[in-house]
Amino acid sequence: MNIIEIITKKKNKEELSREELEYAFLGYLNGKVCDYQMSSLLMAICLNGMSDDETFTLVDIFIKSGDVLDLSCIDGVKVDKHSTGGIGDKITLIIGPIVSSCGVIVPKMSGRGLGYTGGTIDKLESIDGFKVSLTEDEFINQIKDIGFAVTSQTSNLCPLDKVIYALRDVTGTTDSIPLIASSIMSKKIAGGADKIFIDIKCGIGAMMKNMEDALELKNIMERIGEHYNRETICEISDMNIPLGNNIGNSLEVIEAMDILKGKTGSLRDLSIKISTEMVRIAKGISESDALKEVLMVLDRGIAYNKFLEFVKYQGGDINSLKVSNNIQEIKSNKTGIVKSINALNIGKLSCSLGAGRESKEAPIDYSVGIVLNKLVGDEVSINDTLFTLYKKDNKDIDINVDDYYQINC
Ligand code: URA
Repeated sequence: MNIIEIITKKKNKEELSREELEYAFLGYLNGKVCDYQMSSLLMAICLNGMSDDETFTLVDIFIKSGDVLDLSCIDGVKVDKHSTGGIGDKITLIIGPIVSSCGVIVPKMSGRGLGYTGGTIDKLESIDGFKVSLTEDEFINQIKDIGFAVTSQTSNLCPLDKVIYALRDVTGTTDSIPLIASSIMSKKIAGGADKIFIDIKCGIGAMMKNMEDALELKNIMERIGEHYNRETICEISDMNIPLGNNIGNSLEVIEAMDILKGKTGSLRDLSIKISTEMVRIAKGISESDALKEVLMVLDRGIAYNKFLEFVKYQGGDINSLKVSNNIQEIKSNKTGIVKSINALNIGKLSCSLGAGRESKEAPIDYSVGIVLNKLVGDEVSINDTLFTLYKKDNKDIDINVDDYYQINC
């Protein structure tokens, strides 16, 4: 077998066998296939897709590339949640504390930023000392003690996804349904949860740009879940506009805390909706009973305290969060009502400020990002600040407001 033949086969839209997929993907993991060859194969997969058989096989190869956690030693139903990635999507940092405060166990394996979308692990690393890579024992002990833990893949869970994910991030190969489904579902299954909730983001700022693709992704992920006997619920949510006000790593942790402390708006609403669904499926109770529990832990500050406990448990110092002092306010050139905010352009801008990576080794600047001062539906006057940039340095950035905000006069 030969990697060039495998790439060529996919380029010619032929189906790859298990042996060929193993040869290419495991070969990449152990260094026999190099970056440029795997990039080429990933691009061929992006362009030509994969059959269901190939996708199921790839999930299996990803899972078997590392350990599979057995959480049966922990009492209770364990529910994991994952997002396909969006701009300003800090929901995991909100729902983890809420759902675990309701007595449901949330073992969470997360990733870094992908493309223009942020990742939970990068956000958590903006907290000094926060340990994102837990050993299996540390992960299990933390879940037993506080009901919620987040780990990256370094603890030998799906190591193949970790390397493929990093390569996809910098080779324009993120938005492929079979690659997303294999990446997410392998992590969720290896992570040991009994039930899985997937938030599929759909819209201009998401990998799934239209409802048809989002539904196809939902269908394949639910079938993978069924195959591994893990109840999997996928909900589709809007990503045409960024989620909440803050984009960028430290800024998003701050906003997650604000929501847990009572800030209202669409981010809180979506967090409540997802938490309610997770509590409902875990406890087998009605939606209204689940909602009551969720509101109770939010309103009484129990979920906020759980967040602080979680950060401390993983070694983080929450007072260490740094936001850049180099600020540039972007003003409105019209009077009217905000009709939409272009999530994709905001995501790209945030990455160009340094909040995301352009190459695998590129460091992230956790202190940079964007705050949206005006949201959809807000009234604005000429010269009002629409959004604020938090930059590495105080050099002015040339911004065409119309690329980001659509204002109806
Ligand atoms: N999240 C993942 O873990 N993988 C993807 O491919 C997309 C989002």
